[in-house]
Amino acid sequence: MADEPEIDEHEDDDEQRLDPEAVARREAAMAKIVRMGDPVLRTVARPVDEFDGELREEISWMGQLMHDALGVGLAAPQVGISHRLFVYRVEPDSPIVAVINPELEWTGDDTELGEEGCLSIPGIQVDVERPVHVRVGGLDANGDVVHIEAEGLEARVIQHEMDHLDGVLILDRTSKDERKAAMRKLREMERSRAA
Ligand code: NI
Repeated sequence: MADEPEIDEHEDDDEQRLDPEAVARREAAMAKIVRMGDPVLRTVARPVDEFDGELREEISWMGQLMHDALGVGLAAPQVGISHRLFVYRVEPDSPIVAVINPELEWTGDDTELGEEGCLSIPGIQVDVERPVHVRVGGLDANGDVVHIEAEGLEARVIQHEMDHLDGVLILDRTSKDERKAAMRKLREMERSRAA
């Protein structure tokens, strides 16, 4: 969930269900996405203050990368840009939404534990507890004010992406045991790549 769809698109069995072109597109997109370990992912991103053609290009590029990577959300720091901006799309056929300089306006009292992955930490899923309902204010690509009320998966994705803008990753939001297991798996994957 969150950045990645509910199923982990990086698992081999899943990959076999994609046609070769989609696999190639996904790999090309993943190669442009910054991985955990890069300092940009640990940096508090800067507010966007220019709503120009460059920003619109940045948004459409991020939307394309998210689409190609089969993700449901992508924050600007994940493409190496320290901007308070993210794109997301929970339903495959709905338009991609861009939210700029988002602020959490309200969270409900109910929380829920859910599995999340992250395009910057491929192959890892951990449980993260988050509020089920949120309201977020921000700006769209034209600099117009938007308010989003979301629940469930949409609320989870929004909170995950907003975390990226503050340098927070899912491993910071999970239990100590899950974090340790994830770090072990990352080291193993690193070793098998090197071998
Ligand atoms: Ni992420």
